[in-house]
Amino acid sequence: MVIGMIGAGNMADALIKGLLGRHVLPPDAIWATNRSNRERLAGLQARYGIQITPVKPPLLEAAGIIVLAVKPKDTREVLGQITGVVRREQLVISVIAGIPLESLERALRGIPVIRAMPNTSAAVLASATALAAGRHATGEHLRTATRIFEAVGDAVTVREDLLDVVTALSGSGPAYVYRLIEAMSHAGADLGLDGELARRLAVQTLIGAARMLTESAADPGELRRRVTSPGGTTMAALGVLENRGFAEIVREAISRAAERAREMADEFAVPDGQEVRPEV
Ligand SMILES: NC(=O)c1ccc[n+]([C@@H]2O[C@H](COP(=O)([O-])OP(=O)(O)OC[C@H]3O[C@@H](n4cnc5c(N)ncnc54)[C@H](OP(=O)(O)O)[C@@H]3O)[C@@H](O)[C@H]2O)c1
Repeated sequence: MVIGMIGAGNMADALIKGLLGRHVLPPDAIWATNRSNRERLAGLQARYGIQITPVKPPLLEAAGIIVLAVKPKDTREVLGQITGVVRREQLVISVIAGIPLESLERALRGIPVIRAMPNTSAAVLASATALAAGRHATGEHLRTATRIFEAVGDAVTVREDLLDVVTALSGSGPAYVYRLIEAMSHAGADLGLDGELARRLAVQTLIGAARMLTESAADPGELRRRVTSPGGTTMAALGVLENRGFAEIVREAISRAAERAREMADEFAVPDGQEVRPEV
C-alpha cells in the first residue's frame, strides 16, 4: 500500500506521524505534495524520510490511496488538477471538512471515494475519526480506510449526513478542550498559582479524567457525581457553570460548528450540474 497526501499541512503531518509511529507503512510508502510551500514539504521529508514532490503526477502514479488534505476553499482547484488522472483502481480519501461525497464523486467520476473526519490528535495516535463511504467504495475500501485511521486512534463509520456533526464534535473538538485548559490555567494563575504550575495541574487533570473515562465503565455523569460532594467545592464550581448555561453554550457552539460545515459545503463544493474540468 502506498499513500499519497495532497496537501501537506497540519492534518497530513499528523497522519504521517501516526502512520509511521505505528509502523503501518514505511516512510518510502508515503508521498506528500502541497501547493507552494517548499520549505514545509522539505521539513516533512527531513523529519519523516517520506517521499515529497512539488507536482502531483509522480504521487498520483505511485499511490494506491490518495488522501485529499487541503482546506475546503482549495477543493475545486485540487479536483480540477486530479480529475482525469486518478484511476478507478485507486481510492480517494478526503479529510476536507464539509465537502460532501456527492460533490467529490461528481468531479471524480466513478472513482471510489471515502470521507474521513479525523482530528489533529492523530499526531499522538489518539484521533477520533469518523468515516463515510461513497457509492463506488466497497466494503474492502472502507476496511482499508478504517485500518489507516485506526493506526492513528479510534475510527468509526457513520452515515454521511452525520459527518457535519462529527466535524463539529470531534474534528474541531480538540480546540474546545485546549480552550478549557487555557481558561483553567489562567484562572489558577489569577488566583495566585505560578502560571506554568497551573497549566501543569490543569493538563494532568485532563489526562486523569480522560483515563477515568476510558478505563472505567461509568459514564461521565456518574464520574462527575462521584466527585461532587453535597455542599462541597466541586458543587460550588459546577453551580457557577450551570448558572451561566455551560451545557447550553457547548450545545450552541457545536451546533454553530455543524452549521458552518454545511455552509462551507455550499461555498466550496462543486455546484449541482457543474462539471470540474481537468486542468491541462
Ligand atoms: N487541522 C484539523 O484539526 C483538522 C481536523 C479535521 C479535518 N481537517 C481538515 O483537513 C484539511 C486540511 O487541514 P489542515 O489543518 O491540514 O490545513 P493546512 O495546514 O492549511 O494545510 C493545507 C495544505 O493544502 C495544501 N494545498 C492547498 N492547495 C493545494 C493544491 N492545489 N494542491 C496541493 N496542495 C494544496 C497547502 O499547501 P501550501 O501550504 O503550499 O499552500 C497545505 O499544505 C481541511 O480541509 C480541514 O477541514 C482538519
